Amino acid sequence: MAGGGFVVESTVKRYEGHLTAYVVISCIVAATGGLMFGYDIGISGGVTSMEEFLKKFFPSVYRKSEASSTDTNQYCKFDSQLLTLFTSSLYLAALVASFAASASNKLFGRKITMLVGGIIFLVGAFINGFAQDVAMLIIGRILLGIGVGFANTTVPVYLSEMAPPNIRGALNICFQVAITSGILIANLVNYGVSKMKHNGWRWSLGLAAVPALIMTFGAIFLPDTPNSFIQRGKHDKAKSILQSIRGTQNVDEEFQDLLEASEVARQVKHPWTNIRKRQYRPQLIITLLIPFFQQLTGINVIMFYAPVLFKTIGMGDNSSLMAAVITGLVNVISTIVSLLTVDKFGRRFLFLEGGGQMLICQIVVALLIASQFGTSGHGEFSKPVGNAAIAFICLYVAGFAWSWGPLGWLVPSEIFPMEIRSAGQSINVSVNMLFTFVIGQVFLTLLCAFKYGLFFFFAGFVIIMTVFIFFFVPETKNVPIEEMNRVWKAHWFWKRYIPDDAVGLAHDTDNNVQSNNNSNEKDKGKNVELGSTSV
Ligand code: BGC
Repeated sequence: MAGGGFVVESTVKRYEGHLTAYVVISCIVAATGGLMFGYDIGISGGVTSMEEFLKKFFPSVYRKSEASSTDTNQYCKFDSQLLTLFTSSLYLAALVASFAASASNKLFGRKITMLVGGIIFLVGAFINGFAQDVAMLIIGRILLGIGVGFANTTVPVYLSEMAPPNIRGALNICFQVAITSGILIANLVNYGVSKMKHNGWRWSLGLAAVPALIMTFGAIFLPDTPNSFIQRGKHDKAKSILQSIRGTQNVDEEFQDLLEASEVARQVKHPWTNIRKRQYRPQLIITLLIPFFQQLTGINVIMFYAPVLFKTIGMGDNSSLMAAVITGLVNVISTIVSLLTVDKFGRRFLFLEGGGQMLICQIVVALLIASQFGTSGHGEFSKPVGNAAIAFICLYVAGFAWSWGPLGWLVPSEIFPMEIRSAGQSINVSVNMLFTFVIGQVFLTLLCAFKYGLFFFFAGFVIIMTVFIFFFVPETKNVPIEEMNRVWKAHWFWKRYIPDDAVGLAHDTDNNVQSNNNSNEKDKGKNVELGSTSV
């Protein structure tokens, strides 16, 4: 299709001329949305290990954590439901808010939804920074969670709708890297403020306002997307925005495609009924299990509680926070490794390698902890054993960050045909948030009950999920979404669910990309569009 090829080429050229105004700003908005989320993941563990913070809000935990190591069961010294609620309440709020954000996106558009999310998040950051009691802390975390739910549901969609197709894949990647960078920045802030005599924790919690301010201001000045205007019946506005962001008056073809895509989406009245049809069983099961397994790797034990965990294994305040910075750095770098290799090595290779690596590391960490504390939890870590534990925790984080971290979002996003896409994506986000909450809430209690065996518990799940990937998750690298049914049809197990006439049935109706020749780009576009959420 020579003509099509020419259109794509010229679109790329035209687009390049206008990269500055809209796309760069969109990137900043995306990055700050991801930073907000990551900052929250990374900040709470450091704060809950700070002396002044514990003394003020959780004095009984503080007394336990200060008791001499021979008197205290090390596994249980941070076990407090209230302390874990401080961390995990955010994810429950985000789970509920993502449904509200979905509705808000449809009714009021992306811009208003981001604005509202940013403002709610800002209020939460201020309440936390000025907190006087536990109630203020938890209310602040809930508001942050609502902000995160709104941002995570909206920003990736906003980006995919604003960006020309050829950079959509890259934007998805930016969002993931931004999340891990947010975690690292939070680790660094915690390390920095721990040197302050007083109120360091207030800075840690209050500085969450910075990425939120950027996103809120971004939302004030950015236009809404063409798709969002079309969805709300404002076709003239949609066309003029499209002309501005593409930098040409000649957008008729793309505009027509957007109208058609919107019409198809409107006609899918019952996505929740559709997704339960037998022919979508592979997608449904994979989309339920992948976010569940991602959380059952135990990664957020490290992301939320690394400093507490490092203190548990006998490190001082400073070195615990420093060790958290190191794991944060490993996380960012390994995520970048994944993004550079995922289309070369494929999803399955990364999943299987990452799973094996995490499994070995978890077993070694469990044995190291067992060798020092046994089951009684009494004793002290020797320095070499402590260092070895940190090294294996870093290798574990690397294994996660180039497999289940990004792929836990990417794979569910690339297997849905249009007619069940939004329902599937909602399931993915909500299952992820639900189990993020559950792990955040029960980890310290489980550590107290299972002791070093907790690491075997997560290792057991890593075995199950790796076997699951091996047998049930086919390679989706470079498979255009509209051809995904062929993958299921060729699969030893899933083929029984796919009717013979269904191959090629899942038409990709989103025609933002103007050429069939460009199926890879098209595919990447979908990945971004669905990078972490649904509307
Ligand atoms: C997960 C988060 C996790 C983060 C760590 C994400 O993919 O969904 O729960 O904290 O990776 O980098």
